[in-house]
Amino acid sequence: MSRTIATMKNDSYVRDLSHEIKEMAKKKNAVILAHNYQIAEIQDVADFVGDSLGLSQQAAKTDADTIVFCGVHFMAETAAILCPEKRVLIPDLEAGCSLAASIDLDQLKAWKTEHPDAVVVSYVNTTAAIKAETDYCCTSGNALKVVQSIPEDKEILFLPDQFLGSWCQKMTGRRNIHIWMGECHVHASVHPRKIDEMTQEHPKAELLIHPECGCLTPYLDRVCRTQGNTDSLKVASTEGMIRRASESDAKEFVVATEIGILHRLKKENPDKTFYPIDNEMSCQFMKMITLEKLHQSLQKDVFQVTVPEDIRVRALTSIERMINIF
Ligand code: 13P
Ligand code: SF4
Repeated sequence: MSRTIATMKNDSYVRDLSHEIKEMAKKKNAVILAHNYQIAEIQDVADFVGDSLGLSQQAAKTDADTIVFCGVHFMAETAAILCPEKRVLIPDLEAGCSLAASIDLDQLKAWKTEHPDAVVVSYVNTTAAIKAETDYCCTSGNALKVVQSIPEDKEILFLPDQFLGSWCQKMTGRRNIHIWMGECHVHASVHPRKIDEMTQEHPKAELLIHPECGCLTPYLDRVCRTQGNTDSLKVASTEGMIRRASESDAKEFVVATEIGILHRLKKENPDKTFYPIDNEMSCQFMKMITLEKLHQSLQKDVFQVTVPEDIRVRALTSIERMINIF
């Protein structure tokens, strides 16, 4: 009902700080990119909000001098790989990713030695060093197309996400994909039981599932039978979910991914209702980025993310191969 004075004060604090951030960004010719999982205030102040693929495309084409990446470290690194002439900043250097941390360089080199003829496909949620040892990078929005573009007789090492890898394996029917057993702690934690509970509670709702979700496993056969085109279930990247929500005739959606995405879903579809599969599905790394840290980042030019040139050049090849498929 009536808004409290504390909320109103908070509103004006956020408005003023956001205004200062925008002014500072304009003066410095900086562009602010934010991932779909960022807190609402960050999404609202950003120039572009999107998924990993969309944000890297924005980074590649911007003519700004500075990119402030409101996301996690591998995303800022990807921007630095694509834009060596620009200053890339992340407001908090500790914003990591449990999935990217699930494989290191020695592990990948050892795996490649076991399969010397295999093509390496790495999800974008990896460090620059891993990308440099990769043939094709992919994102949740294009992983399937990347795998489909590789000749069928070629062995594939898919890393690091086991659920995204299983989905690609099931959808393509390929037996020669070896999958790294990594996972994102946020997406892996959703029990399939939750999906049954929520779909029973909201029988008219369409189900949107991110391919990193552990809860996808029992649905793989169904998704595969319909090649992902069931009316009531869509497997999609975060940006794919945003698109689907606006295009679909459904009025209700159960959303199986990190809860930050609900801000944009609700904002862009005010006549529709969105139910998070689990209110606890929050990525603490994404939530490290605050307005105060973004302000400091612009004010002090911190924290710069760079990639050594020899690694950058090799990592870039894997990203360009991905981009060139489309
Ligand atoms: P998207 O590319 O679908 O936005 O996913 C990125 C991510 O980190 C998912 O956890
Ligand atoms: Fe990484 Fe998972 Fe957070 Fe995405 S949600 S950034 S995969 S830890």
